[in-house]
Amino acid sequence: MDNSFVFVTIFGLLLALGNVASQAEAARAFFVFGDSLVDNGNNNYLATTARADAYPYGIDYPTHRATGRFSNGLNIPDLISEQIGSEPTLPYMSPELTGQKLLVGANFASAGIGILNDTGVQFINIIRISRQLDYFQQYQQRVSALIGPEQTQRLVNEALLLITLGGNDFVNNYYLVPFSARSRQFTLPDYVVFIISEYRKILLKLYDLGARRVLVTGTGPLGCVPAELAQHSRAGECAVELQRAAALFNPQLVQMLNGLNSELGSHVFIAANAYEMHMDWIGNPQAYGFVTSKVACCGQGPYNGIGLCTIASNLCPNRDIYAFWDPFHPSERANRLLVQQMMTGSSKYMNPMNLSTIMALDSRV
Ligand SMILES: *[C@@H]1O[C@H](CO)[C@@H](O)[C@H](O)[C@H]1NC(C)=O
Ligand SMILES: *[C@@H]1O[C@H](CO)[C@@H](O)[C@H](O)[C@H]1NC(C)=O
Repeated sequence: MDNSFVFVTIFGLLLALGNVASQAEAARAFFVFGDSLVDNGNNNYLATTARADAYPYGIDYPTHRATGRFSNGLNIPDLISEQIGSEPTLPYMSPELTGQKLLVGANFASAGIGILNDTGVQFINIIRISRQLDYFQQYQQRVSALIGPEQTQRLVNEALLLITLGGNDFVNNYYLVPFSARSRQFTLPDYVVFIISEYRKILLKLYDLGARRVLVTGTGPLGCVPAELAQHSRAGECAVELQRAAALFNPQLVQMLNGLNSELGSHVFIAANAYEMHMDWIGNPQAYGFVTSKVACCGQGPYNGIGLCTIASNLCPNRDIYAFWDPFHPSERANRLLVQQMMTGSSKYMNPMNLSTIMALDSRV
């Protein structure tokens, strides 16, 4: 056998192995935008009351410490990171987010925010969505200094993004107080049309900033969370007005995303139907291993739905059998069920396709 042939073959093999290794090392980047459902701790660095940085938050987190996540343990972005084979995204505000860690992605989410700038004003200093997008741009400049503008653009184009917005525009704006400014300005159907049109602008801005795969979650059943049951429910039935809001918002969101995709000629925006996912276990908690979907694990008052989850609250011993961790946020186990449906759910839950299909498609490019 010719020596040079052997050399070329072995060299080629080494190159191929090297490629596989570097691809395995560099999972696709992941970027997160939105509110408390996906905040990994940005609000810890801000002067705001919207925070989850004290016990018993984080009681089931690997470190058993509060991190700013609104969960007993992992939250939705953590579990998506797990699925794409990367470490959890760091909050953009974290001083640890430097150097190579920037290449993993970043979490820009901030508890309390909404689609509108006037949502969550009572939380004072939070990172509104337009600021989250500014930070995404700033992030890209920082990464450019590290790996150059072309590689940065590639990293962003090939990344997965998650954005979760909308719930607070109802709970912490339109319905925050009776006769709120927005409710005097708009009927509910008109308000939904307005916030959907504002959301569309935000998503187009994300596209302009390089996003090409964006998972967009609709709102859950807003009227069924323990906080709303405590205030509006006599016999445990979901609060009617907030259910009406979710029922108007979610289909219009999907319609808007479909419109954007056909305009852009690509499946950039993927809708996750958080409403249907939640309703499965709200309808039949036992089938999903929960003892209740009405009572929060941590809280006080009816349904443990009054006030905040603090060291003085009732705390359930086994968080895995509660769908809700606190009056507004799912438990880690519920988050796992949500992410499982995002990965492999049928078209009832994911439109136009699920994440495992997307990951298979994207890995072939
Ligand atoms: C929200 O605030 C930002 C920054 O001040 C501004 O650019 C944007 O236009 C505002 N959005 C709306 C809908 O008023
Ligand atoms: C979702 O993912 C599974 C693979 O886990 C696949 O079999 C199924 O067809 C997918 N469903 C849709 C609607 O894309």
